[in-house]
Amino acid sequence: MVYDKDRAKEDATLRDGRRMILTSYSPDDKEALVSMYASMSPEAVKWGLPPYDRARIERWTSDLTNNITLLARLEERVVGHLQMFRIPFERRKGVAELFIYIHQDFQNLGLGTVMMKKAIALAKERGFHRLGLTVVADNQRAIRVYEKVGFKKEGIVREAFYGDDHRYHDEVEMGLLL
Ligand SMILES: CC(C)(COP(=O)(O)OP(=O)(O)OC[C@H]1O[C@@H](n2cnc3c(N)ncnc32)[C@H](O)[C@@H]1OP(=O)(O)O)[C@@H](O)C(=O)NCCC(=O)NCCS
Repeated sequence: MVYDKDRAKEDATLRDGRRMILTSYSPDDKEALVSMYASMSPEAVKWGLPPYDRARIERWTSDLTNNITLLARLEERVVGHLQMFRIPFERRKGVAELFIYIHQDFQNLGLGTVMMKKAIALAKERGFHRLGLTVVADNQRAIRVYEKVGFKKEGIVREAFYGDDHRYHDEVEMGLLL
């Protein structure tokens, strides 16, 4: 079942008073999503796996059956993107992976936490069993948000991330049983 954009629309107010709309993805949102990633600062993607170009965004948004894509919008702009990927094997039934990016102008204002909570609610609604993610161990803000909404650290992947500082960094596997 494809997630219904209109049904998903919801307001969220940031700590600075700006009001966002949370909505699921529809193909009309593609250009705004491409623009969000094109305007991310190097600092904002420091712990990510760039490039976040059009081809990648098209791959992410091509399977609306297995993926749930949640957007935060400020008028015509997309300023936050959370994606859950369901793994389409019977033996991974109900198991999904997720990632989240908030544009640098909207970070640390509560939006990541709100989007994570919404994603968890949607995953429960869909009958998912587990959400998992991988985060660079130095990305303390992201880890704080994930723990705040109930994710647990499950293990360390040693030196799997090669940073802009030309050093290897550990990654943390985290999970939430729903
Ligand atoms: C990580 C990210 C999704 C978090 O979303 P956000 O909207 O910025 O986070 P929120 O404002 O909801 O919450 C941030 C929390 O971290 C805390 N925090 C901020 N900086 C921190 C730091 N350096 N160390 C520890 N905690 C920190 C804040 O105090 C807040 O916790 P609180 O609500 O208990 O006070 C967002 O910053 C982001 O997109 N970052 C860049 C991309 C990225 O790293 N994505 C994750 C890849 S796995």
